Amino acid sequence: MPISSRSQATPSPVKLYDFHPPVEDFRSAVLRGLSQSQKTISPQFLYDKRGSELFDAICQLPEYYLTRTEMGILRAHAQEMAIALGNRALVELGSGSSQKIRILLDAAPQVKTYVGVDISRQHLQEACAALMQDVDGLEAIAVCADYTQPLPLNTIPELHNRPTIGFFPGSSIGNLEPAEVIAFLKTVAVLGDLIVGVDLKKSAAILEPAYDDTQGVSAAFALNVLTRINRELGADFDLTEFAYRAHYNEIEGRIEMAIVSLCDQTVHLGNTKISFEQGETIRTEHSYKYTIDEFQLLAMKAGFQPVQVWTDADQLFSLHHLKQL
Ligand code: AVJ
Repeated sequence: MPISSRSQATPSPVKLYDFHPPVEDFRSAVLRGLSQSQKTISPQFLYDKRGSELFDAICQLPEYYLTRTEMGILRAHAQEMAIALGNRALVELGSGSSQKIRILLDAAPQVKTYVGVDISRQHLQEACAALMQDVDGLEAIAVCADYTQPLPLNTIPELHNRPTIGFFPGSSIGNLEPAEVIAFLKTVAVLGDLIVGVDLKKSAAILEPAYDDTQGVSAAFALNVLTRINRELGADFDLTEFAYRAHYNEIEGRIEMAIVSLCDQTVHLGNTKISFEQGETIRTEHSYKYTIDEFQLLAMKAGFQPVQVWTDADQLFSLHHLKQL
């Protein structure tokens, strides 16, 4: 593509409200996380350009049933969900899933306003622009904000005195600790109703391969954060001396993902030395799984009333319609 083709692009018709979410500095977050006794790197840092590509590849894996199953539920029940939406403005938290939102919007032509909320401004604007182009009569509004913080939706003129409904697919909520789920749901209660995707509890024999596939994509996704730290923070992680591990903790109901040190070693990050014992772990993610009842109970503790839940025939995944009490 010649560079000049960029200048021919028409300006995006997408309205952007930028609340300039403060992003914790990568260096200080990594230093803080790696100085804890349980070394930790927050999942938000897994999604650099390469990490986002690898995550997309995970969603296509035969073992990773989540994406495919949720899309199937959306397709199977789109008509019912369209009724649940009514003509409210549809607010998507994290606008990474245009495929999913498209299933809803295609089934609900009465929805005329889409609001994407995401911390990544560029990704968000592109997703909104594509939606506006593909869905007839739809206005797409981009809100650059951290949706885990109180949402300033009342300052958006297009939403003034208009009912909204939130859409939070993908079991992204699974990365939160249960206590954080309650706080999060209370925060997004300004949206009114909510449709949220939640992965269901099932056997470790299904869960563990979904998070540690035979092709090694899940491993590459987690280990990529070390490459990112080497590149962006000038560290010297030796990628041959670390491995990836995913374990289903049945008592806690969560997949525990970690990077394991294969030997005693010291890594340099600027002037800081970080020591690892053989077998020591860096926690990268928790991915919580719930029964339908467990999740509904959490939702009720946050002041929501479960109205409907949609699942697949194998009870792998669930989509909950929650309404405000
Ligand atoms: C993005 C949190 C939904 O927990 O299934 C998948 C993240 N990490 N494989 C999940 C993830 C490794 C994913 N969520």
